[in-house]
Amino acid sequence: MTRPHRAARPLHDDAMNRQLTRNPRIPLLCLALLGATAAAADDTTATGALYRQHCAECHSADRLGALGPALLPENLTRLKRKRAAAVIADGRTATQMPPFRDKLSAAQIEALVAYIYTPLERLPAWGMPQISASRILLKRPGELPGQPLHGADPMNLFVVVELGDHHATILDGDRMAPLTRVKTRFALHGGPKYSPDGRFVYFTSRDGWVSKFDMHSLQFVAEVRAGINARNAAVSADGRIVMVANYLPHTLVALDSETLLPIRVIEVRGEDGTSSRVSNGMDSSPPLRQTASRRQNGS
Ligand code: HEC
Repeated sequence: MTRPHRAARPLHDDAMNRQLTRNPRIPLLCLALLGATAAAADDTTATGALYRQHCAECHSADRLGALGPALLPENLTRLKRKRAAAVIADGRTATQMPPFRDKLSAAQIEALVAYIYTPLERLPAWGMPQISASRILLKRPGELPGQPLHGADPMNLFVVVELGDHHATILDGDRMAPLTRVKTRFALHGGPKYSPDGRFVYFTSRDGWVSKFDMHSLQFVAEVRAGINARNAAVSADGRIVMVANYLPHTLVALDSETLLPIRVIEVRGEDGTSSRVSNGMDSSPPLRQTASRRQNGS
């Protein structure tokens, strides 16, 4: 069986990572319920089947995302339901999200919108094994240059994050000219974070991916999925740890900044023992370089 959570797709690999796993949560619902409730349950089942037929291939059967982003209410907070329906009907130009207007009725699209904004009954485990298995090593430390390969002053570079179309541009601050523009993970969150020496930048995405970028060679070197929905990340003052705060599950994940492999997963619980969301209030030491972000074309 394929491992559903691996999603081991390097950023620049367009080959589709097909993950046709069955969704185990569909059957069993309310065998003996009456009237409207039973009808609604039937609806869910039919919609679940629609989802598996048309969407699972890219968004994965468990809705955790693969080639396409995760489709969970916690991850979709910035997308209005009306916009979601429009995206499903019309697709998104210049992306791999296809239009479904000709395949699905308006009612089916509405049902799918309700489906993807319904929380999972049980969140899959996302601990040390899953995080470790998600790690993608793109470059080994020995393959990275000792000096910047671009002619620009390494202390005067800007990172510009384009939220709308999921790219980042590295700008030479002296000339105000772009050095490179790279594709990032879907929907970056919390701002890029720098290693104390400014050599590496860590990007965190809505769906929990942390991507490590080398400012000397202007390329990604490693990635890991630290959570299913992440809020933010911070780099320790000594540069050795990248700490990621997740909403799904409620964890803090300490990553080894060198390899991005997890060192520890800390479950965050309130004093009454219930698990609590990790807030946004993390920051790292002052960046040597400046950061800007701009939002393009809305959602
Ligand atoms: C061939 C792959 C593919 C298929 C099939 C597919 N999607 Fe997508 N979907 C994507 C990609 C890629 C994106 C991200 C587009 C972008 O970069 O904005 C996306 C984005 C979305 C979004 C917007 C998410 C956000 O946070 O902005 C929604 C909603 C969505 N898809 C729902 C669906 C539904 C429902 C189906 C099935 C009816 C479906 N998709 C089928 C690839 C796919």
